[in-house]
Amino acid sequence: MLRIRDGGSVDESNIFVSVDYLEGMDKVAMNLGHQQVSAAVTGKALTQSMDCKTCHKEAEASIGSNYMDVSKKYKERRDALSYLQTRIKTGGSGVWGEVTMPAHPKITSDESRQIGLYILSLAGDQEEERSLPTKGTITAESSAPGNMLVITASYTDEGAEGTIPLTGSKSVAIPSSTIQLTEDLKTNNMQAMAFGGMDLMLLNAESGWLELANTSLKGVNALTLTAAWQSAPNLSFDFQIHENTPDGPVVGEATMPAQTGGQGTRFLSLFTGVAGDGPYYVTYKAEEGKELSAIALTGAMFR
Ligand code: HEC
Repeated sequence: MLRIRDGGSVDESNIFVSVDYLEGMDKVAMNLGHQQVSAAVTGKALTQSMDCKTCHKEAEASIGSNYMDVSKKYKERRDALSYLQTRIKTGGSGVWGEVTMPAHPKITSDESRQIGLYILSLAGDQEEERSLPTKGTITAESSAPGNMLVITASYTDEGAEGTIPLTGSKSVAIPSSTIQLTEDLKTNNMQAMAFGGMDLMLLNAESGWLELANTSLKGVNALTLTAAWQSAPNLSFDFQIHENTPDGPVVGEATMPAQTGGQGTRFLSLFTGVAGDGPYYVTYKAEEGKELSAIALTGAMFR
């Protein structure tokens, strides 16, 4: 929901909505592509709040070259951005004609960078930079396990004469239903390893846990775990889901009985009826008084 605090009108073309599949929260935090997109939106607003608009238009002829032509002229140049930043600051003539552009000695490099990104975005790959509609339904594509679906919306205001336009943005991350069992997870007495092209978590002590951070269990019926072993564990394991801390309230549990035979796997469903935002901890506890036999989790998925 977008609110404009000062009651001004919303320019729809300054709203940018996107959906991405990213590899985890750190990637979400440094979602560079979108910073660039919002930089371009800010850059456009900057050109409108500064004197540029008296001489330049986006696509029509004016005293100065239009930004679209500038964009086409330099888009293949690798140093296009720094070149434009310098030209905006120093001004000059001779590239497009005899008319001289005044220098802008006071422009900061951040401002000229945003303007440069805006100009370069004009002839850029429109496919990537077009905003999604502000209302609609997103059907999640299947993507690599562990990826998150991230919806980002940003809005840039027009800025006022002499002030920098402001951009606000907000991202919502929806984790994949498959938990990737890698060392990125915070664990205790569990060891992430790759085995035969598969990521798994070794349960190598009598008890331990793994943390499900940034995970809401809203709408989730169960967490299904796949346990596997090389030689059958001659003891049972209790699995539980705890809310907030590893010994917080139990919100789901299942017991895996002792097994016989050699190599094997087993599915376990830990039902949950909670609707909290976590964090949650999946704990395990080996049956007491029996000789420990290592097993591994090879899958964890919300249903
Ligand atoms: C008084 C008119 C005027 C103003 C104000 C002005 N420009 Fe220009 N601008 C020009 C002219 C004329 C040229 C063409 C210069 C040339 O041929 O080298 C130009 C060229 C440019 C170019 C292309 C440079 C190149 O090497 O191709 C960019 C980018 C640009 N201006 C951006 C801006 C921005 C951003 C602002 C505001 C911060 C601005 N201009 C303000 C007149 C102006």
